[in-house]
Amino acid sequence: MHQHFLEVKGLGKRFPGKDGDLVVFENASFSLERGEFVCIIGHSGCGKSTILNVLAGLDRPSEGEVYMAGREVRGPSLERGVVFQNYSLLPWRSSLSNVTFGVRARRPGWSKAQVREHSLRYLHMVGLKDGAEHRKPAQLSGGMRQRVSIARAFATEPELLLLDEPFGALDALTRGTIQDELLKVCAETHQTVFMITHDVDEAILLADRVLLMTNGPHARVAESVRVSIERPRDRTTIVHDPAYYPIRNHLVDFLVTRSRELADRARLPEASGGDPMEPLEVDPGADARAGEPSLPPQHGRLMAVNGN
Ligand SMILES: Nc1ncnc2c1ncn2[C@@H]1O[C@H](COP(=O)(O)OP(=O)(O)O)[C@@H](O)[C@H]1O
Ligand SMILES: [Mg+2]
Repeated sequence: MHQHFLEVKGLGKRFPGKDGDLVVFENASFSLERGEFVCIIGHSGCGKSTILNVLAGLDRPSEGEVYMAGREVRGPSLERGVVFQNYSLLPWRSSLSNVTFGVRARRPGWSKAQVREHSLRYLHMVGLKDGAEHRKPAQLSGGMRQRVSIARAFATEPELLLLDEPFGALDALTRGTIQDELLKVCAETHQTVFMITHDVDEAILLADRVLLMTNGPHARVAESVRVSIERPRDRTTIVHDPAYYPIRNHLVDFLVTRSRELADRARLPEASGGDPMEPLEVDPGADARAGEPSLPPQHGRLMAVNGN
């Protein structure tokens, strides 16, 4: 049987409360292939950051397991790099030194010169040059600081890179430029990435697949939406791809309507429990090319779980 690079099986998180447990999410089962870029979208509070922290080994699930390259994830490791929304740079170190710090830990056998050259390459890849390499975080703009965080994470070349809304705090212009840099770095490195975003257009630009979570409590990873748009992708022309709006409409429709409807159904007593459920695979771009309606027929089955 084919072994996925990352396998998430029946993950759940619950917190004990006075009227029984609060089930944040349950039965989250999905996988990532090596080199894939996967985004996850869902309303605030459904458990995205918790899932990411479990993948990082920084949090423990209440149920379920995570396997990376066949080994169970039980704690943090340099094999898994994390970038949070609020760049956690060491304030007393320069950009370069923030990057070399991680590289040195990851590659203890490398010479000083090797570490420096490698780190500079990644800083240049995210557009930090002309002296920005030697400035301290306080002397950089928010966008530049986030670039340092990204360079640092990529430079350690983790097996899996985890990004938790890394551009959430940036203005639209800066965000766009860093998205471009990220696309470029991913094309060059084939880095496997799992990224949380609340921005549908960002997900379509960057991802090979988008996982959709229903609202909590009892949230689930309900769908895996393929972004069948060729690479290289360009932020300014991607909207002209015939698959763009079918995919976008599908994602928006999920967030506006179905994330709540599916959550309401999941809370009915007859729907509770059950086996870990793989997300429904959909490909709105391919359906549009084939002249299919943008919501696939399987969807009807899922919507009809409780009659009507
Ligand atoms: N200690 C706790 N007790 C009860 N609920 C908690 C606790 N920690 C987190 N939660 C709940 O877990 C949910 C998931 O949080 P999070 O993973 O940050 O969601 P997201 O990243 O999707 O916004 C939230 O609704 C939050 O209220
Ligand atoms: Mg979050």
